[in-house]
Amino acid sequence: MYRPPIDEPTIRGLIADEAAKFESRNQKSGELHRNATTAGFWQGVPMQWMSEWGLPHPLYVEQARGAHLTDVDGHTYVDFCLGDTGAMFGHSPEATLAAVAEGMGRGITTMLPHADALTVADHLRERFRLPYWQTAMTATDANRFVIRIARALTGRPKVLVARYCYHGSVDESMTKLIDGRPAPRARWPVNPGVQMDQIARIVEFNDFADIERELAHQDVAVVMMEPVMTNNGMVIPADGYLEHIQGLCRKYGSYLLIDETHTLSTGWAGYAAEHRLEPDFLVVGKAIAGGIPAAIYGFTEAISEAMNASFASAFQTSQMGLGGTLTGNAFALRAMQATLTEVATPDAFDRMISLCTRAADGLEAGIATAGLPWTVTRCGARCELQYLRESPRNGTESHDALDWNLIEHSHLFLLNRDVMITPFHNMILCSPETTEADVDRLVRVFAEWMSAIAANRTDRGMT
Ligand SMILES: Cc1ncc(COP(=O)(O)O)c(C=O)c1O
Repeated sequence: MYRPPIDEPTIRGLIADEAAKFESRNQKSGELHRNATTAGFWQGVPMQWMSEWGLPHPLYVEQARGAHLTDVDGHTYVDFCLGDTGAMFGHSPEATLAAVAEGMGRGITTMLPHADALTVADHLRERFRLPYWQTAMTATDANRFVIRIARALTGRPKVLVARYCYHGSVDESMTKLIDGRPAPRARWPVNPGVQMDQIARIVEFNDFADIERELAHQDVAVVMMEPVMTNNGMVIPADGYLEHIQGLCRKYGSYLLIDETHTLSTGWAGYAAEHRLEPDFLVVGKAIAGGIPAAIYGFTEAISEAMNASFASAFQTSQMGLGGTLTGNAFALRAMQATLTEVATPDAFDRMISLCTRAADGLEAGIATAGLPWTVTRCGARCELQYLRESPRNGTESHDALDWNLIEHSHLFLLNRDVMITPFHNMILCSPETTEADVDRLVRVFAEWMSAIAANRTDRGMT
């Protein structure tokens, strides 16, 4: 069981010191936030999560380019958050910018296809090894569209997800177990009238028996999984686990959706293709167009045939709710084409992965020097420092070791020393624009933080 290294009063005192430092060095951001709060944006931000980084107030950005972000107070951060993956290939990649600038004057959105779309589809086929593709504006939308299709084709109501997963604000995945049954994740009734246990099933990631028991009910339209859990502390799949799910989906007549929105960072083709998985659906969003809103979902020949057969006769596809007015616009497709072919290249991935290996090795050395019972979990260009001796085996183990005091302290400590990582946990993502010096800075500041934690430990001598 997780045990905090520092007792509550001591860590709260350390947090207060770093928070005071943060406020004193970020006065312009503080003032903007006070002004914005009295202006129209609720909570002073255009999107509520921006105010939830565990900071006294959000940082206001002056500009972000490559692997660096400068705030309005003039601090330049090495950015390992990268817009929580939207900027995985660096902020404003040159080729994406050029393609978008060149195409903008030819119409941003027309609700008609452009020839660019054809080359994007060819690329997606080759890269992710699925024959048919559609676009969406966000990964959340792409997941929702897949769920609709899966329900329509199977006639089944439920979506099976891993405990503590995140797939965007998809209702079926905003769930948690209460008394062994899926219930809304939030404390208040987000969707009164919707019974979560009628639309969702939840399994513990990496539990081979759990998923067979749940799928055997034969009411699951689609299993929606990240191949590596990345949103609640990273959890790596056990050997054969994803193949096991794939086999069970076939046995019990459910579809398998692999959500690669984050795990695209595994390598050029993402986790599923690199591990020779054969999902029925695949979703990628966020970074696919260099951060310009766009997402894609792919599916198999069999699904294409089933959709052609069912939708052409039984009901019109346009009434399925697959897409919106701006979906598939020329702007997004140009950005996607340039990002996929010129930015997110095999060379870029080699570089990102080797930088992340350097970061993970450095963090592990820091842990050893500080003598903390922690580890680093790795997958491609992404790694995470976790407050566990060994990488967690499932979502619950990972969740239970999310020590919010340590997270708040580490993030303040790092930001006060010009290093930014993904909020809400300790995930680090390397872009092709990141340099070795950037990584060494991250490792050095993290080592300083870990020695500060070690020096303040109150758990020594406890059994
Ligand atoms: C695995 C995964 N899928 C989907 C999403 C949703 O992405 P978006 O918020 O861009 O719709 C996220 C967001 O963090 C994610 O991590």
